[in-house]
Amino acid sequence: MQETTEYLRHHHGGDGQKAAEKTVQSYAKNHDADFQAFWQHHCAAHLSDQASVIDLGCGTGLWLNQLAQQYPHATLTGFELAPYMLERMEDLAANVNIICDDLNNPATELPQHSVDIALANLLIHELHQPVTLFSKLRRWLKPGGVLVLCDMVRQPLADYLQHQYSGIDLASQTPDYDALVDAFQHFQEHNRYHPEDITALLRQCGFEISAAETFKNGRAVRIAAISV
Ligand SMILES: C[S@@+](CC[C@H](N)C(=O)[O-])C[C@H]1O[C@@H](n2cnc3c(N)ncnc32)[C@H](O)[C@@H]1O
Repeated sequence: MQETTEYLRHHHGGDGQKAAEKTVQSYAKNHDADFQAFWQHHCAAHLSDQASVIDLGCGTGLWLNQLAQQYPHATLTGFELAPYMLERMEDLAANVNIICDDLNNPATELPQHSVDIALANLLIHELHQPVTLFSKLRRWLKPGGVLVLCDMVRQPLADYLQHQYSGIDLASQTPDYDALVDAFQHFQEHNRYHPEDITALLRQCGFEISAAETFKNGRAVRIAAISV
């Protein structure tokens, strides 16, 4: 766990408090109208006050709190490891429960076939490998239960740099050395998977893909996968 916590602190830029604040600030963007439409389309049939929903890598718990407004009796569980995210959680709804665990190799055992919906929003690229988690999810999800997975996917270096350094002409202006090292490391960390790597892996782990769509000009993917 300690090793993963250190990895995450580094991946999140070294300053935990700042990373937690950034997660709060990015909440609306990461759960925008397109996300909500996708969620609604694939999850509405599974949502009720009797539902069990888990948010994997839930950050500061804002999505679960939003769900709790609509479903105050649903069982809403967030998984999170980073201490600065856990510390930044405030005013969690009464039906939101948080589990501190390393999702690379979760120690948690939820009852078999007890979960209706699992969300992994921007988590998978931060894991050392996702297979152990996918296997657990297959046990936890009810047959027919849905995994919604959103994440950054592989993109050309030129596009990534354009996004990171928009407006900077690299021929005439060299960015700060540390910022460059950081950008190139993040390029690797945000470019682990092609969308088809993730869908193929999910199929291999026993999921059926019901939708996979790219967004952010191909820099990210949204997948709905059914546990069969
Ligand atoms: C990019 S943030 C996204 C947060 C939130 N899902 C959202 O969309 O706003 C990824 C989250 O996953 C958590 N995370 C990454 N690796 C994890 C692990 N191995 N175990 C538990 N949580 C992890 C991070 O600490 C972070 O809060």
